[in-house]
Amino acid sequence: MPATVPVDALPVPVMLIGPDQIVAAVSPSLADVLGPRLAGRHYVTALRQPPLLDAIEDAFRSQNTRQSQFLGRDGARDTTWGVTITPHRGTLILTFDDRTAAHDVGQLRRDFVANVSHELRTPLTALQGFIETLRGAARDDAQARERFLAIMERETTRMTQLVDDLLSLSRVEENERLRPNAAINLGQLVSATLEDLGPVIEQSGLSVTLSDESAGVHVLGDSNQLRQVIVNLVQNALKYGSDGGRIALRIDPPSHFRKLRGDGLALHVTDYGRGIAPHHLPRLTERFYRVDSHRSRGLGGTGLGLAIVKHILNRHRGRLTISSTLGQGTTCTVILPLAD
Ligand SMILES: Nc1ncnc2c1ncn2[C@@H]1O[C@H](COP(=O)(O)OP(=O)(O)O)[C@@H](O)[C@H]1O
Ligand SMILES: [Mg+2]
Repeated sequence: MPATVPVDALPVPVMLIGPDQIVAAVSPSLADVLGPRLAGRHYVTALRQPPLLDAIEDAFRSQNTRQSQFLGRDGARDTTWGVTITPHRGTLILTFDDRTAAHDVGQLRRDFVANVSHELRTPLTALQGFIETLRGAARDDAQARERFLAIMERETTRMTQLVDDLLSLSRVEENERLRPNAAINLGQLVSATLEDLGPVIEQSGLSVTLSDESAGVHVLGDSNQLRQVIVNLVQNALKYGSDGGRIALRIDPPSHFRKLRGDGLALHVTDYGRGIAPHHLPRLTERFYRVDSHRSRGLGGTGLGLAIVKHILNRHRGRLTISSTLGQGTTCTVILPLAD
């Protein structure tokens, strides 16, 4: 068959189905997806997926172009292909186009929406329950009323925090490609941020120290965002490392970092608390990932703090590393390129 010659030479995934409904040719890259030896078979036994078969049947009948989908598998990975079916003189030309990446992004977005809905639903359900109780059983019980109102306040604060975190995440993502260009004195920024956190630190009862050996060197940054990084890391240390009684911040003298392919500053935030088991470490910067969701929620956490930190550092071409020993504590290290 003359048509097999050009199709075999095509570097794109293409299939021809003859007017007799028999597969006339399959390009090599499509054979990688569908498997070998399909030429010569009826298209129904070669393709097997009902929505695609319907579209092919329709294209044969109408002789109009049709779009459909093929779901494949590549090792352990599901793949998604867009299929365009173009009739040409009784033959159908099927071109396959890899939409796996776009499909994965869509899936991520759906997961994200499901997570956000779940995070909001839990406090809302609690609030609803307390409102009912306050109207009914606890109506004349002043003590119970105070207790419930305190919980309601905590839940609303947490929802507000969640919305704030979502907004800052989307803002950071929005300008992730825009490099920050201000020269920031990191030592000064850290000590000013610790001052702002004074009341929170005081309330935690932990002692917080800063040793700054940056020698006043500047990093390239966005001071609001870097402040957010410091706040998130210090608050995590206060919340999850409280057993250790103290938190130490340290800025090393400027030095060369292979990861930055240049000079930078390293800021370490160390707590002496319970630590994190190694298998959690690579996942901590995922949205909504928590080691102990119950504890995190109880402490007002949203599970977004480290995701925000990671995006901010991406924008700064910086790095975050977390090292931890169970029972001994955790160190989060931020490295940032110097301003030249
Ligand atoms: N210093 C730390 N010590 C122990 N666990 C930590 C520390 N920092 C973060 N974690 C863990 O990482 C999780 C994710 O942190 P984060 O993204 O800031 O979310 P959140 O604090 O809102 O829960 C936390 O829930 C906690 O389980
Ligand atoms: Mg946090």
